[in-house]
Formats: sequence, C-alpha cells, structure tokens
Amino acid sequence: MTDIRNEQPGQHRLAVVGAGVMGTNITALAAGHGVSVTLVDIDDEILATARTTIRHKLKHAQLMGALPANRPQGTVTTTTSLADIADATTVIEAVVEITEVKRKVLAEVSALVTPGTLLISNTSCVPVDEMADWVARGEELVGVHFMNPSYLIKMVEVIRGSATTDATMDAVGALLRALDREALVVNDAPGFVINRLLHPLINRAAMLVQEGVATAETVDGLLEGCLGHSTGPLRTADLIGIDNLVDSLRVLHERTGDPECDPCELMLRKVRDGHHGRKTGRGFYDYRSATERNMR
Ligand code: NAI
Repeated sequence: MTDIRNEQPGQHRLAVVGAGVMGTNITALAAGHGVSVTLVDIDDEILATARTTIRHKLKHAQLMGALPANRPQGTVTTTTSLADIADATTVIEAVVEITEVKRKVLAEVSALVTPGTLLISNTSCVPVDEMADWVARGEELVGVHFMNPSYLIKMVEVIRGSATTDATMDAVGALLRALDREALVVNDAPGFVINRLLHPLINRAAMLVQEGVATAETVDGLLEGCLGHSTGPLRTADLIGIDNLVDSLRVLHERTGDPECDPCELMLRKVRDGHHGRKTGRGFYDYRSATERNMR
C-alpha cells in the first residue's frame, strides 16, 4: 500500500473501490474534508495515475475555495488488494458501469466487511434493489450519485432502495454532512432521476450530430444560449466519459426498453475509436494541445 499524505485520519474509515473519473473525484472530496480514504483498483498503474489526479483535484478544489479552511486533509492510501478495506466503516463502489463487474465487486466487498458497514454504490443507472440481491445485507446498501466534479457540485442524488433502513439513511446523512454535501432523496428506478433524464438527452443530442442536423458546438450552443443549460449535453458527455455513457445507456435500455436509451452509432464509434472524451483527449471535442494534435 502507498501513502500519499501523512495527516491524521478522521472518524470515518472510508474505502472507495474504483479509481477512475469518479473514484478520484470522491477521494479528493473526502480527503479535502479531512476524511481518510483507502482507494482500491485492479492495477498499480491505474493507482499511480489516480494519485496524481487526486493531487491535481485537491489543488483545483483549494483554488476554487471548495474545501473547508483549517481542516487537515485526510490520508489517501491506495491498494490493489480488496482485503485492505475489511475494516472500513463505509465503502463506496465506483467501478465501471457493467452489471457483471459491479455484481462481483459488491458481492466480494459485502462478504469482507463487518455488519454495520455502510455500503454505497455510485452507480449511474443500476437499480439499488437489484444490487441489494447481490450483497449479504441489502438493508445497509444505498445509492449515492455523486456528481462530477464532486468537490465543486454540492448536491448529490441519494437513492433509497426498498430494503434500505432508516439507520442506513442516518449513516449516509452523517457521511454527507462530513463531506459538506446536500442531498435530495429519490426512490429506486433504473437511472433514478438524473440519468433517466440526462442520458437519453445526450444520446439524442449525439443522434442530431450523427444525422448532420447540427455540429456538437451548435447543439451545445443552443441548449446553453437558449435554454440556459450551464453545460451543453455533448460537453457534458465528454466530461462524464463516452465509454461510461454507452455502458450506462445499455443498463438503462435493458431495464426500461426505452428506444431513446439505445446508444446511437456515433457514440459507439467514438468508443471504438478510443475517443472517450476529456479523459482520452478527444470526444465530441478535441482537448489536445496543438503539439499533441500534430503528433498523431
Ligand atoms: P472509469 O471507467 O473512469 O473508472 C472505473 C474504474 O473501475 C477503473 O479505474 C477500473 O480499473 C476500475 N475497476 C474495474 N473493475 C474493478 C474491480 N474489479 N475492482 C476495482 N476496480 C475496478 O468510470 P467512472 O466514470 O469513474 O464511473 C464509475 C462509476 O461511477 C460508474 O458506475 C459510473 O456510471 C458512475 N458515475 C460516473 C460519473 C461520471 O461523470 N463519469 C458520474 C456519476 C456516476
């Protein structure tokens, strides 16, 4: 295990599983609020990148005034061994939006931790009741849909499953207060509220580009300029990650049958070409520097 900070841990022993876009966001949010985190992923290279990303995010959060003043940061420990999180008081699952991967990770985590451990999934679309069947104690499971970037967006969507107890809701409330987040609670459904609305919108926006009706800039420009959206759907897609969106749309499509959730050909092509958005330097927009562009 590798320590990147030495400060005292707070009262929560938080583990985050999955060190991608959201795992690093949530870890930076927690560490910035004095909560120590053990971050798990499948290989050391991913964890090395994650440590750098977390440092950058903490700096950015500080610059934006998004962290409490005078609170020592929590420690961040990274590991590839799930066994290292056996004594966590809260585990946040933030692995890829692929049902089989989530099922395996949640079942393993739940078998490892002790009763009373708060189990949170940051899933975009998988219903909490479905995940409750994969774990030993479904009553201790709750969905918390952190936004991206987690340290700048105060609001989170909390999803209460039909088995989630009041004690679990109290525990998640305490954690979110420690992280200075505000929450709105919704009932369970595929995609909950935000992604049931947002993902088909992004898919439809991509379809309009695919059909040649407008460019990505124009689609975003219209929603930003005419409807007051702060970020258009395709800029949002690049921020989320088009690979994650395609996986999430599939989860939604399988569970709702809604044709608007069947990922369009343009999104599938971008995933095939490795143009996943900001994280790969290209998506609907090009984020590479002029030098990088000339190299390829
Ligand atoms: P990502 O693809 O950036 O990261 C996922 C990470 O999970 C990868 O680092 C991968 O190596 C890791 N992983 C895969 N199998 C694993 C295993 N068995 N054990 C440990 N780690 C494993 O994905 P991202 O975007 O961070 O999404 C994570 C979750 O958060 C997904 O459920 C997604 O739908 C959700 N989400 C994503 C948002 C976004 O803006 N990207 C916003 C809100 C929720």
